Amino acid sequence: MEEKKKVVIDCDPGIDDTFALLMSIKHLDVKGIVTVGGNTGLEYTQRNARYITELAGRTDIPVYAGYDMPMLNQLVRATSVHGNSGLGTVAIPEPKKQLEKQHGVDYLIDTFMNNDDITLITLGPLTNVAMALAKEPRLKERIPQILCMGGSAFQGNFSATAEFNIYVDPEAAKLVFDSGIPIRMVGLNLTRQNRMHMSDVERLREIGGPVGSFAADILTFSVSQNGRNSLCDACTVAWLIDPAIIKKSVKVHVDVETKGEYTRGMTVCDWREYMSEDPLEDICHEKQYEESDAPQNVEVAMEFDQKRFKELLFGTIASYR
Ligand code: RIB
Ligand code: CA
Repeated sequence: MEEKKKVVIDCDPGIDDTFALLMSIKHLDVKGIVTVGGNTGLEYTQRNARYITELAGRTDIPVYAGYDMPMLNQLVRATSVHGNSGLGTVAIPEPKKQLEKQHGVDYLIDTFMNNDDITLITLGPLTNVAMALAKEPRLKERIPQILCMGGSAFQGNFSATAEFNIYVDPEAAKLVFDSGIPIRMVGLNLTRQNRMHMSDVERLREIGGPVGSFAADILTFSVSQNGRNSLCDACTVAWLIDPAIIKKSVKVHVDVETKGEYTRGMTVCDWREYMSEDPLEDICHEKQYEESDAPQNVEVAMEFDQKRFKELLFGTIASYR
């Protein structure tokens, strides 16, 4: 039996974060969960994370609170997508599991200064990670890789150019993307290849049990609001759980825009290195030009196997029965 990959997850649960946590708890060795303000306020995201560990039967996994607000304190939430509580309209009991006393940023510093075999997964704004890097710059050499749900190779969601996690805290994202830590980025260009519809909600309800019913209830909220949900965060952790689910990825230089009137929060990918014979074809068809001198700091996921992903997702939820 292959040893489970060790991870620490920074997240803002959040409907898709919830699915990502349930998948990670089952298939990865989750050392700790750090929460951040994002989809909703920290008072909810940390509470939801504590509840999810109880639902998954893993109250041994410690849950920490990090920052509620981004570095420049501009408040941006996604309650229209996730509901005020972050779990749609599903009411949960106050978790018995207590929050850890240590601040999430200090937990990140301690963990990565004392371990070199843990992957950091980020599923929300990058405020906690950036603040940890600012407080302990040696982390740049200590974190082996970051698997990040954020950004996009092309279009945004919160704006025409920016994806929500990056848009909430572009300064934090710039610090992280410029850090030199190897980043694997799962952006909207990838996650939009996954579509969860009401038929998928019904499949979760058929699986049933406490986890299947809860998953169906929270997904109902966002699918009924928006007609579908890509479960961005679940697509992200799937890359680590079953790497074949990401059928293609490319390394490219990525900058984070912090100033543009229309582009603040955009992950600017330098696609000049990758062009097809026919410019109208997909980008990354083949390497055509000389590499730019900017370092290829990010591996960007490009193609997704939705069938294989859904088999993993439904199989995981069923395994909680
Ligand atoms: O843009 C999608 C991302 O923003 C996901 O992580 C979702 O949970 C929200 O945080
Ligand atoms: Ca999230």
